[in-house]
Amino acid sequence: MRVESKDLTFIYGEGSKNLSVTALDKVSLTVEEGEFFGIIGQTGSGKTTFVQHLNGLIKVGKDKGSVIVGEYNLSDKKCDFKSLRAKVGMVFQYPEYQLFAETVKDDVAFGLKNFAPNMPEGEREKLVREAVETVGLNYDRIKEKSPFELSGGQKRRVAIAGVIVTKPEVLVLDEPAAGLDPVGKREFIELLHKLHGAFVKTIILVSHDMNLVSENCTRAAIFSHGKIHSVGTPKEIFSRYDELVELGLDLPVTASLTRALKENGIEIDSDLTVDGFIESAAKIFAGEK
Ligand SMILES: Nc1ncnc2c1ncn2[C@@H]1O[C@H](COP(=O)(O)OP(=O)(O)OP(=O)(O)O)[C@@H](O)[C@H]1O
Ligand SMILES: [Mg+2]
Repeated sequence: MRVESKDLTFIYGEGSKNLSVTALDKVSLTVEEGEFFGIIGQTGSGKTTFVQHLNGLIKVGKDKGSVIVGEYNLSDKKCDFKSLRAKVGMVFQYPEYQLFAETVKDDVAFGLKNFAPNMPEGEREKLVREAVETVGLNYDRIKEKSPFELSGGQKRRVAIAGVIVTKPEVLVLDEPAAGLDPVGKREFIELLHKLHGAFVKTIILVSHDMNLVSENCTRAAIFSHGKIHSVGTPKEIFSRYDELVELGLDLPVTASLTRALKENGIEIDSDLTVDGFIESAAKIFAGEK
């Protein structure tokens, strides 16, 4: 499923003279099926407002542009949002706060029950087990536990299991790595890649972490004051060093190094992943010896 917005505009508090905020201003963006797409931009730039449109948590307003996800036209009054939400999974910041049921099993099953209430219990449990095992947890060991007895990392995994249980084609994550320690973060990224290959087709990741984006994303968009500043591969967007700094954004460490070396007359051309950077740098430095 391809995700496409055209001239999408959203105004909080529209109509009230002093309090209205234009959170999105004619945002046109296409994410192709299969991408691992990053969304970055300073705080308040409209990232969350944008992704909340993708599964209808925020409805496309009249004359406020359009959002089309696969065969779903979200501006259409007849759009089947229930089925859309099974296809576009949404994981928010600190997803563990979304847990609520008495057992892990019930928590993960919740979205599925909502989407397919008539599914036989056996079939449902099979899908729940698959989702829980996919996020790296032992289903039999935790299925009857309260989600609140689990560790922070486990809770986050259970919350993600509850989103992927309907087998969404598109998985949207808003700041999913916030608050994780370095090991937790690494494991979490590994999980995303595992999901991307096997479970979901497209990942859309909102993040403040430029290294995470340069290292993992096929392309990314930079939001600024409700508009799209630029879209491209990490190499394309992170090579515009001065503009990024002006926007108040960090550079990935590879881009900082490339920039600093360039100022010293050493040009390193890489895809801005750490491995890619090291490979290109090694060639240049080996030649200079
Ligand atoms: N519920 C709301 N009511 C009024 N204004 C809001 C609301 N939610 C967001 N805004 C405003 O809309 C703009 C965009 O907010 P949004 O949350 O989409 O930004 P963001 O890029 O996700 O920021 P962050 O990086 O801090 O999560 C901001 O100016 C914000 O203050
Ligand atoms: Mg946000």
